[in-house]
Formats: sequence, C-alpha cells, structure tokens
Amino acid sequence: MAQVSLNLNGTPMECEVDENSLLSTFLREDCGLTGTHIGCDTSQCGTCVVHINGQSVKSCSMLTLQADGADITTIEGIADGDDLHPMQAAFREHHGLQCGFCTAGMVMSAIDLLRHHPAPSKADIRAYMDGNICRCTGYHNIVKAIDAAAKEMAAR
Ligand code: FES
Ligand code: FES
Repeated sequence: MAQVSLNLNGTPMECEVDENSLLSTFLREDCGLTGTHIGCDTSQCGTCVVHINGQSVKSCSMLTLQADGADITTIEGIADGDDLHPMQAAFREHHGLQCGFCTAGMVMSAIDLLRHHPAPSKADIRAYMDGNICRCTGYHNIVKAIDAAAKEMAAR
C-alpha cells in the first residue's frame, strides 16, 4: 500500500492505495464516484475519461499512484450545484445519449476539446472525439450537442 494526496473535485484528500490500483478503479470503488465508467480497461473506449490537472486522461491508463499531487475532476465535479455544466445541458437538450454508458467520458473529452479549441468545426469535433466510442452509435447527436455547447459557451 502507498499514500497519495489528491485534490478530487475540489476536495483535498489523503488516502492509502494499492500500488497496482488503476485510477478508474480507485475512483469507482474507493471513492464511490461511479459516473466514471469502465468499458474496456485497455485504453480503447474513452468511457473512463477524467481531467487530471485540466487535461483529459483515460483513467484506466494510469495507476492511482501516478496521480499523487494532482487535481482530478470527474463527471460528478463539473456541475455548479443544481446547474448542469453547459456541455451536460447540451447533451440533454440535443439527445446526445441513448443508454448513457459512454456519456460521462464523452462530456469530459468534449469539455477538454473546447478548452483547446473554443470554436471547433464539426469535422474538428469528430476528429478530437475519435478516442471515445459510443456502442449505441449515436454519434450524430453527440456532435450536434458538442457544437451547440461550443456556441453556448462562446456566447457567455
Ligand atoms: Fe478506459 Fe475504456 S475503460 S478507455
Ligand atoms: Fe450508449 Fe453511447 S449512449 S454507449
């Protein structure tokens, strides 16, 4: 076991973790943050994307120990109280989800896209979101939702 210090969704925490635990497993099983999903555990699907120090990362691709000292934001940390993040609101408004399994990862990746590229074209959105797979194949509405969120966020 090893000691790690993290800032998780704005809350500082110290905890003891198994040296071999993946960050995705730690978030779900030790922290109860089950919004981060595990679809493949092999860095293929993007359902486990979280933000580490402001960058999107597939949380199944790193050990919890590697996040020592980091600021971590999960899907549970992006709303402002009862107000959804504009990206969440756009996914709801534009039906950017079906079963919802991929949605948290999609939303976290899409927020990261807009940080780097606030006015992406639909082709930019499709290219950036390449690492996020939707097994329901609802890509058209996902792109529409991200496009709408970009416009909404730019107008604020
Ligand atoms: Fe991490 Fe699929 S569970 S990429
Ligand atoms: Fe079902 Fe994407 S909405 S996997």
